[in-house]
Amino acid sequence: MTGKTSRIDDRYATNEKYTTLRGIYRDAQRHLSEVEWNYLWCGTGDEVTLNDNTAAFDRYRFITPLFAGIDNPDTRTNVLGFDLSFPAFIAPFGGEAVFHPDGHLAIGRAAEAAGIQQMVPVAASFPLEDIAAASSVASIFQMTFVGDEDAVVDLMERVKIAGYKYICITYSPIRQWRERMMEDRFSIRGERGPANFGPGRSDPAALVELLEFKQPRWN
Ligand SMILES: Cc1cc2nc3c(=O)[nH]c(=O)nc-3n(C[C@H](O)[C@H](O)[C@H](O)COP(=O)(O)O)c2cc1C
Repeated sequence: MTGKTSRIDDRYATNEKYTTLRGIYRDAQRHLSEVEWNYLWCGTGDEVTLNDNTAAFDRYRFITPLFAGIDNPDTRTNVLGFDLSFPAFIAPFGGEAVFHPDGHLAIGRAAEAAGIQQMVPVAASFPLEDIAAASSVASIFQMTFVGDEDAVVDLMERVKIAGYKYICITYSPIRQWRERMMEDRFSIRGERGPANFGPGRSDPAALVELLEFKQPRWN
């Protein structure tokens, strides 16, 4: 043996740092504490629905039509008027500064480099204007209706002025029943808090509602 790896196939040789989702998960888990990882990777309750959903996706099968005459597959597509290098958007996820100090600012730059678009959550760790200025791909703003009507309309105005193309309204319980996080006594308070609510931003009452969840919901 010479100690040299014998190479019978070059298909695995690449300079990319990450080649699989598995590799990304592994590296993320290595860089995060267990508590941070549980915030990133946690469904609600006993996570039965999360596991069911994952299993449902696993049941999709790709049938590869061999000899179909497609020699160079192209993942580029257009969604909602955006040209994408592959059909994906950055999902909106809040409290992201737990994972990286530059949060959605860095995510926007990465999405731009990858040729995809970014959905920005109202619960981001940075002001929506700063995220819009950080890249050219912060195009969809996700928000949920908290606070009073004027505050919601004000927030929408800010989103429009900042240059977002779409607003995605979602409805979900803000304080989800995430049991691993409860066991960890997890709190993002003390980290970079939510940047889009509170004094001098939008409606202070909305911040209270977001965190304390005592106010009646909109109907
Ligand atoms: C840490 C974390 C924070 C999230 N925050 C938000 C949020 O603020 N707004 C939102 O609409 N969805 C939020 N989500 C949901 C994600 O956008 C996404 O829908 C969910 O993670 C499922 O996609 P996945 O299977 O690719 O993780 C969050 C998810 C995680 C893991």
